[in-house]
Amino acid sequence: MSSKPHTHAQWSSRLAFTLAAVGSSVGLGNIWKFPYMTGESGGGAFVLVYLVCILLIGLPILMSEWLLGRLGQKNPISTMSNISARLKRSPAWVLIGVAGVLGAYLILSFYSVIGGWALAFIADAATGSFESLTADTAGSLFGGLLSNPATLLAWHSAFMLMVILVVAGGVAGGLERAAKILMPLLAVMLIMLVGYAATTDGFGEAAAWLLTPDFSKLDKDGVLAAMGHAFFTLSLGMGIMMAYGSYLSDDVNIGRTALIVVVLDTVIALLAGLAIFPVVFSNGLDAAAGPGLIFQTLPLAFGQMPGGEVFGVMFFVLLVFAAWTSGISLLEPIVEWLEEKTPMSRVASAWVAGIATWLLGIATILSFNVWSDVSPLGMFGKFEGMTVFDLLDYATSKLMLPLTGLATIVFVGWFMGRDEVRSQLNMSDSAFSLWSFVARYIAPIGVVVVFASSL
Ligand code: PHE
Ligand code: NA
Repeated sequence: MSSKPHTHAQWSSRLAFTLAAVGSSVGLGNIWKFPYMTGESGGGAFVLVYLVCILLIGLPILMSEWLLGRLGQKNPISTMSNISARLKRSPAWVLIGVAGVLGAYLILSFYSVIGGWALAFIADAATGSFESLTADTAGSLFGGLLSNPATLLAWHSAFMLMVILVVAGGVAGGLERAAKILMPLLAVMLIMLVGYAATTDGFGEAAAWLLTPDFSKLDKDGVLAAMGHAFFTLSLGMGIMMAYGSYLSDDVNIGRTALIVVVLDTVIALLAGLAIFPVVFSNGLDAAAGPGLIFQTLPLAFGQMPGGEVFGVMFFVLLVFAAWTSGISLLEPIVEWLEEKTPMSRVASAWVAGIATWLLGIATILSFNVWSDVSPLGMFGKFEGMTVFDLLDYATSKLMLPLTGLATIVFVGWFMGRDEVRSQLNMSDSAFSLWSFVARYIAPIGVVVVFASSL
C-alpha cells in the first residue's frame, strides 16, 4: 500500500469511481465509431483483433494509468514529474501528460460535432422524421444534416455548451447519480435493439459476418485502426484515467475494477454492432458507409419497429448522455492544466478551453461539406483523400494515443520498482507474474509491431 499521505479527496465509494470510469469510457466510441470502423474494415477479423488489443494492451495500460495516478495523487503532468523525479528517471516522462492534454483537445473538437449529430437526431426522432423511412430517405435525412454547416454548427455549439457548463460548474456529482440509472438504461435499449434486429432477415448473415474472422478482408491499416480504437474506447493515452486514479483509495482492487470497466465497454460496443449490422444487411445498406453509418441505419430501424418514435427519442437521448459524460472527461484535463498554468479561475479556464475546442470543431464540420474535397496532407500518398476530420482522427487514435499509452506501460513495466507496482496491484504471485509479462513484453511489443507494420 502507498505510504504517502493523500493530498486530495478520495472517491466516496468504489461504485462512484467505477461509474466515473465507465462514464468516460462508454460513449460515441462504442456506439458510433466501433460499428463504422468494423464496417469499413470488413467485419469479424477487425472485431477479433480489436478484442485481442483490448485484453492484451488496453487492460494492462488502464491498470498502469490508475496505479500511476494513485501513486502520484496529482494531475497527470505533476504525477509523471513527481514519480519520475522520485525514481530518478528522466523528466521527459512528463511528456506523457503533455501529449495527453493535446490529444484531449483534438479529440473533443470532433467528438463534440458528432455529439451534435446525436442531438439533432433527438429532434428528428421526436418530430416523427423516422416514420416510413426507406434506405434512400434515411440516407437523405442524414445527408441533409451533413450538407448544412450552419445546422451542424448550432448542434456542435449546443453540445459543447453542455460540456462547458458542467466542467465550469463542477456539478459532475449530479451527473454521476444520473449515470447510475442512464447507463444501464442505455444497455437495456441496446439489448432491445438487438432483439428487434434479430427479427430482421439480415440477422444471421450479420452475426456471422461480425463473429467469423475473415483475415483476407483486414489490411495493415485495419489492424492499426483496431489497436487505436482500443485506446480511444477506453479513454487511454490521455492521462484521463491517470487523473481518475489519483482519486482512487488504497482499498480498491485495480485489476478487478479495470476488468469491470473493460467488459462493460466491450459489451456495449458489441451490442451496438449486433443492433446495427442486421439492419444494414436487411436493407441493403453499405456496411462501409463511414461515420454516418449509425445515423443512416438506426432511424430506419426505429421507423419500422412498433413504438419506434418513443424508442428513437429515448435512444438518442441516452446516446447524448453517454457522449456528454465522455466529453466532460475530455475537457477536464485541459481545464485543469489551464487552471494550473495560468492565473485563470476554473470557470474562466472552462470557457477558454471550451471555446478553443469549439473553434477547432468548425474544421470537422466543414470536412463533411464545404471542405469535403480538401485533403491538407494529400501530397503524401498515405494521407491522400483524407479530410481534416480524417486527419484529426488519424493523428489521435492511430498515433498519439498508442504512443503515450506505450510510454505509460513501458514506464510502469521497466522503470518502476517491481515491489511498488506489485503492492499497488495487490495481486497473487502468479497473477502478478502474468501481469508483468503482459505489461513488459506483450503489450509494448504488440504496439510496436502494429505500428511498424503499418508504416
Ligand atoms: N472513450 C470514449 C468513447 O468511447 C471517448 C473518449 C476518448 C473519452 C478519449 C475520453 C478520452 O466514446
Ligand atoms: Na468507449
